[in-house]
Amino acid sequence: DPEKMEKIVSLCKRKGFIFQSGELYGGLNGCWDYGPLGAELKRNLKDYWWRKNVQERDDILGMDGSILTHQAVLTASGHVGGFSDPMCDCLLTKARLRADQIDPQTGTAYHYTGASHEESGFSVEKPYSVLVTGPNADENKARKTAKQYYAQFLSDKQIAPKKLSLQGESTSEEVDTIQYNPENGSLLTEAREFNLMFQTKMGASSDDNDPNAVAYLRPETAQTIFVQYKNVLDISRVKLPFGIAQIGKAFRNEINPRNFTFRSREFEQMEIEFFCRPEDGLALTEEWLERRLTFYAEIGVPREKLHVLDVPDGERAHYSEKTYDIEYEFPFGIQELEGVAYRGAYDLGKHQEASGKTLEYFDEETKERFIPHVVEPSAGCDRTVLAVICEAYDVEDLTKEGGKKDVRTVMRFKPCVAPIKAAILPLLKNKPELVAKAKEVQALLQPHVNVAYDATAAIGRRYRRQDEVGTPFCITIDFETLGEEGGEDLKDTVTIRHRDSMEQERVKISDLLGWLLPRLA
Ligand code: GAP
Repeated sequence: DPEKMEKIVSLCKRKGFIFQSGELYGGLNGCWDYGPLGAELKRNLKDYWWRKNVQERDDILGMDGSILTHQAVLTASGHVGGFSDPMCDCLLTKARLRADQIDPQTGTAYHYTGASHEESGFSVEKPYSVLVTGPNADENKARKTAKQYYAQFLSDKQIAPKKLSLQGESTSEEVDTIQYNPENGSLLTEAREFNLMFQTKMGASSDDNDPNAVAYLRPETAQTIFVQYKNVLDISRVKLPFGIAQIGKAFRNEINPRNFTFRSREFEQMEIEFFCRPEDGLALTEEWLERRLTFYAEIGVPREKLHVLDVPDGERAHYSEKTYDIEYEFPFGIQELEGVAYRGAYDLGKHQEASGKTLEYFDEETKERFIPHVVEPSAGCDRTVLAVICEAYDVEDLTKEGGKKDVRTVMRFKPCVAPIKAAILPLLKNKPELVAKAKEVQALLQPHVNVAYDATAAIGRRYRRQDEVGTPFCITIDFETLGEEGGEDLKDTVTIRHRDSMEQERVKISDLLGWLLPRLA
């Protein structure tokens, strides 16, 4: 549903969830900035993950590793040699594209996605059809160039131009469709491997080729955990099975960043490396899969919107005996949120071999020494935020029979991740007693949770504004609060309006914190 996605992207910008990085200068492709509400949402998600996986467990310890990574680490792990995606050049546009499919017979690479050509103003949606599209595309230039390339391509291939049919309406989305039914040609080139790591130089070495100065931005947080595994083991007296958890940035020079934040070049991961005895690896993989599915339900991504892909032989990383991908039904398709992979002894084994230092575990009971195996639940923070946003997004028709059309946009965030937990609304802004009382309520809640204060516009408008950013509770200070209406019983009570049901109830200000906090856990 591309229309739904467009609305979500636009709401994210309008309400300050997510902006494109460097937008002022035309945008930095594949990079995103979280605005005030997005930063709260993302932080709540990370805090919740940390609480469930580190704080509330005795057997998982946290760490926070450096982003700049020693090249020896990534050479040993296999990333320097093999962390790559197949890439192809589009003969039409000369753009470099990630190959979505490679024809094993001809070696021809195809790609399908609309966004891939955004920079140059083209995209190939199916093999042999070219869509000239993209919000930033210069339509006329793109169309003209496409036709020129196309004519050239056809003439090179000695294909009669009558096989080229042009169709398509000029709309802002899809400008022109050129369909090409090939008999003796294809649009894309042979695929080649493109390493996805960002390389950088450390220090002030004057020699550009000094191999000791090379460092990488980590492509996954996992490797920093493997490399510190022994230190954590030595200082903590933990016994197998135990885990090390980390939340942090990772970087991949994706060939075609796309689908909003889904595939970015800079992103955050939430990873656990769970070390265990070899014989327990497979069972723990199943256990972690279930635990992770429960987690998603708790943050508002229900089980029925998730798909578990048991990654078949031949498609798993070579070191993995078992991998589950947890996928979500995004508006742009079913796509991966997290991988739960059984990595065996691969990583620790490689680091032991390359460093020459033992990474073995000594089991005091059995007196055995061995390299522990690893089960890895690896989640994308940004992808989870995006799934939470997509799942929360709802447009509700509240039109009464015979009445005026009434539609509200409501973000149905679970309270534990909602960026604003409660909005404090004095009924009128020009009645000082109401404002003073509202400020009192704000001061009461602010040390505990993120609240908003809004005194402008009619109360109904203000409720709708909070619905749109997913605030679960609105707290209204009215004349009853002041004791001016409704009698003594209602004095010092507030109206609490629930976002989802829109029902209201009254709660004493003195009970407010006790009422609110358990509902946000
Ligand atoms: N340590 C294992 C690992 O990194 P991965 O499947 O490559 O495995 C794990 O990545 C998760 O990180 C993915 O499921 C996804 O949520 C997130 N991720 C990977 N590449 C990403 C990208 N380019 N943009 C956003 N998130 C990404």
